[in-house]
Amino acid sequence: MAKLYINPANKKGHINPEIQGHFSEHLGRCIYEGLYVGEGNKEIPNTNGMRTDVVEALKEMQIPVLRWPGGCFADEYHWKDGIGPKEKRKKMINTHWGGVVEDNSFGTHEFMELCRQLGCKTYINGNVGSGTVQEMSEWVEYMTFEGVSPMADLRKENGHEDAWNVDFFGVGNENWGCGGNMTPEYYGNLYRRYQTYVRNYRNDRQIFKIACGANVDDYNWTEGVMSTCFKAPDFLHGFMDGISLHYYTHPGGWEHKGSATEFDEKMWYQTLKKTLYMEDLINHHTAIMDKYDKAHKVGLIVDEWGTWFDVEPGTNPGFLYQQNTIRDALVAGINLNIFNKHCNRVRMANIAQLVNVLQSVILTDGPRMVKTPTYHVFKMYKYHQDAELLDSFVESKEVGLEKENMVPNLTESVSLGKDGKIHITMTNLSVDEAFDIEGEIADTIIASVRGEIVGGEIHSHNTFDDPEKVKIEDFKGASFDGGKIKFTIPASSVLHLEVTTK
Ligand code: AHR
Repeated sequence: MAKLYINPANKKGHINPEIQGHFSEHLGRCIYEGLYVGEGNKEIPNTNGMRTDVVEALKEMQIPVLRWPGGCFADEYHWKDGIGPKEKRKKMINTHWGGVVEDNSFGTHEFMELCRQLGCKTYINGNVGSGTVQEMSEWVEYMTFEGVSPMADLRKENGHEDAWNVDFFGVGNENWGCGGNMTPEYYGNLYRRYQTYVRNYRNDRQIFKIACGANVDDYNWTEGVMSTCFKAPDFLHGFMDGISLHYYTHPGGWEHKGSATEFDEKMWYQTLKKTLYMEDLINHHTAIMDKYDKAHKVGLIVDEWGTWFDVEPGTNPGFLYQQNTIRDALVAGINLNIFNKHCNRVRMANIAQLVNVLQSVILTDGPRMVKTPTYHVFKMYKYHQDAELLDSFVESKEVGLEKENMVPNLTESVSLGKDGKIHITMTNLSVDEAFDIEGEIADTIIASVRGEIVGGEIHSHNTFDDPEKVKIEDFKGASFDGGKIKFTIPASSVLHLEVTTK
């Protein structure tokens, strides 16, 4: 019997909804087909070109924020190519991703329309690698300036009278690599310069500025950028509100990512072990940030994370299309629990990518759509959005097959939701063992418990012919007495318990 301790009196921090954020790039079938099918498309139901089935599903999941247009695409993207009459927009080759024609029919207006329909915040990633300061500055003016100016006038000419909200703005992406192959100090100086012209035109809507952060364990990058750019935020406006971190789970390393659906138990544990490394990365990058920013004003923004497997056989290798199994559900549950526990530093995280690319929540095939196991985990975790993290601890033991790939059997996080209920999310990493849990919620009398679960055989996944194989099932196995709660978490599953108190 493993003990779970929860102390509701000890609130550890606020869980920003954006911790459950998403990312959409002009990559493969993410934007085109996955989200946008074109105005007037008669085969796939849509509103202003955005496919209705996908928008409805994402609203139900409570998508809080969407990052766009990249990724590597961002540092090659020239926003003026994507505005104005569609027939006049430039056609070009998407050199990064699959060498296909990018017709720019999805641009700034379309992205803002998509976010309007989704009811989510906007995260725009600007171009430092191949763009100018003027280009970036004018984009911000085009989107957010309400008065009379060349860019605001151009926006109005293009049919949008009102300014939009840009909630988050990334100044470059992966500038240590695809975004210009820079050194941290060189990028840091460019960041200081470019961000100067990311103007806040409205005092009531400040743009949250994000500097490009490290890849995985490149602590030298975090150190270099923080030491070059950090300026105490209480001095006028600080240079940065956030710094990013990118970490993907490649079970067999970059060269041997392996299949998304065909894997053995060793690979299962290897994948989960690599997933858990996220916590080390957050701790180490946070320690560097702490040297400069003791007050934790700057957020660590994990704006690319998730599994990265081999593409599905027969698909374009440049499209990064992969299936999604119970293994992905565990990866999602573990990471979201880690982000919750680090919510004082992790202010936003964006899984890569929203539809049809890497660890997606939705897959499409023409007019058909499936929700993946990862979708269902996000939907169960939505109660943590805007909640208060509660002090919690679960006793765990190691499980696994190989010494170097042992993992804790359980991970958890607990919050007090906006609905006044206690939300417990727990993952069982074991392939074949269920665990009995006895929870104790201090100074609490439980009135009722509702449970829901995503789990099953580790390879289970949804296909277009069998779209409901993995879904959220009711979990009725929890009993309670006073402040105590007992349940058994099945093998390879992600569980959500909603506790109502007296
Ligand atoms: O998500 C796919 C790619 O991974 C992104 O374009 C890039 O930022 C990262 O290397």
